[in-house]
This record gives sequence, structure tokens and C-alpha cells, in this order.
Amino acid sequence: MCMAASFRNGQLINHEVPPYTHDSLEPSPGTLASLSLSSHCGEAMDLINKFLNITVPFVALVTLPFFLPPYFLFKFLLSTIGNIFSEDVAGKVVLITGASSGIGEHLAYEYARKGACLALIARRELRLREVASQAELIGSPTAIVIPGDVTKVEDCKHFVEATVKHFGRLDHLVTNAGVAPVCMFEDYPDITRAAPAMDINFWGSAYSAYFAIPHLKQSKGKIIAIASAAGWLPVPRMTFYSVGNPLIRILSLNSYY
Ligand SMILES: NC(=O)c1ccc[n+]([C@@H]2O[C@H](COP(=O)([O-])OP(=O)(O)OC[C@H]3O[C@@H](n4cnc5c(N)ncnc54)[C@H](OP(=O)(O)O)[C@@H]3O)[C@@H](O)[C@H]2O)c1
Repeated sequence: MCMAASFRNGQLINHEVPPYTHDSLEPSPGTLASLSLSSHCGEAMDLINKFLNITVPFVALVTLPFFLPPYFLFKFLLSTIGNIFSEDVAGKVVLITGASSGIGEHLAYEYARKGACLALIARRELRLREVASQAELIGSPTAIVIPGDVTKVEDCKHFVEATVKHFGRLDHLVTNAGVAPVCMFEDYPDITRAAPAMDINFWGSAYSAYFAIPHLKQSKGKIIAIASAAGWLPVPRMTFYSVGNPLIRILSLNSYY
């Protein structure tokens, strides 16, 4: 005996449906009821899709010209005000992940130039020590080095707590550690090789932010999420990089203190 399901008064009803046999080629009433229900659902979905296909582009075209100019003006004003009244970070405590090279290293020098105290995080300790020395030469009052792997939740907890223990506060968390794997999605010889990119780019930022948020709330601090344009303009061969980036942006947008 086969089973078919239909809805009656909002409840799912299971029917027993006899299978077709050579003797009875006529479908049973239960089968006919199920078939007609699913065809009605299909028609309703087609109608909804047709309606949305016509109305959504029209509504978007009409509203965007009204919405975009004030939105861009607002963003422009906000960034101009931000540039004029930029935050004085002298003496503030800034934790930077992925500070041993590239953007993270140079952010450390920029913060150092403005007199911020630094906690520098990455896996290569020797390289971090060179960056810390350079940052202190440039102007940072103190730059400490905490080796750690952002994919390990216990490392993230440790480096946030060690920073707060050393400086007594945390003002900025810069989630910068990241990698950019380049490969067509279908060409991965083993799809599990893509996992570390998500672990570093997304989970590394999420873990660090999670442990930093209580301290940032106290200091009314900030999360500065270093993300890529690939998040809103997906790039071929960078599927996992593109996927991780909007998540990082959402995380930082939801985290103002
Ligand atoms: N370069 C660009 O054009 C560009 C554009 C847009 C956005 N971004 C973003 O900017 C960030 C930095 O990029 P970059 O070009 O400066 O890269 P990079 O020079 O390769 O630096 C990456 C940093 O991340 C650290 N890192 C990697 N895996 C880590 C892990 N598991 N735990 C801790 N630290 C780790 C590395 O240090 P260790 O190896 O010592 O751990 C290194 O300090 C990335 O998030 C990237 O998505 C870059």
C-alpha cells in the first residue's frame, strides 16, 4: 500500500493509496485528490511568480532614483564628518589580527603613528616581533605580541583576555586575518580543502568579535572589519572568499557600541 498526503482544515492527512495493478488501471479517488491539490499549488505559485516578476522590477525602478541620491549624500556627509572629526586614538588599545604582514602590518604602523597601544596577533611570532619593534619606533607607546591562530576558539579567547589583562581595556578590534583561495568551485579536488578559508575569514572574525564585544561595550569601542569588494561583487574562482565577506560585513554592522 502506498501513502499520499493532503491538507484538510489546515491539517496534514495521510491517505492509503492502492498501487496500480494490471487489474485496476484507474487511479483511486485518494490519488486523484493528491494530484489535483499539487496541481493547484503549482498554479498558485506560478501566479505569485508572475505577479512578482511584473511588480518587483517596476517598484525597484521607481523607488531607486528617489532612494539612492539621498542615501549617497548621507554616506558622503557621514564620511566627510568622520574625516574632519576623526577619532583620536592616542593611548587607545587596538588589537589587530593578521598583523604579521600585508594590510594588518601597515594598519599597525598607522595606529602606531597616531600613538595607539597595540596587541598584534598572527601565527608567525618572529615576524610579529619585527612589526612590534617597528611600531614602537614609529610612535606606539607599547606594542605586545600574542601568537595565535584565529581558527581556534581558545586562541581567540586567550588573545582578547591577554590584551585586556595587559592594558586594562580594549578600544578597537581589527579583524583582518584572512586568506584568499583561488579555485573554480567545481575544480576543487577535495571540497573540504575550502573549509580553512571560511574558518579563517569568517569564523576567525566571529570568534574574535565574540570575546571582544563585552570589553568593547565597556569602552564604547569599535570593530573594524577588513573585508573585500568580492563580498558584493562576486569574483569567479573566489567563491568561498566572496561568501565569507558579506558575513564579516554584517557582523561589523551589527556591532556598533
Ligand atoms: N590584499 C588585498 O587586495 C585585499 C583586498 C581586500 C580585502 N583584503 C583583506 O585584507 C585582509 C588581509 O589581507 P592581506 O592582503 O594583507 O593578506 P596577507 O598579507 O596574506 O596577510 C594575512 C595575515 O593574516 C594572518 N593569518 C592568516 N591565517 C591566520 C590564522 N589562521 N590565524 C591568525 N592569523 C592568520 C597572516 O599571518 P600568519 O601567517 O603569521 O598567521 C597574515 O598576517 C584579508 O582579510 C583580506 O581578505 C585584502
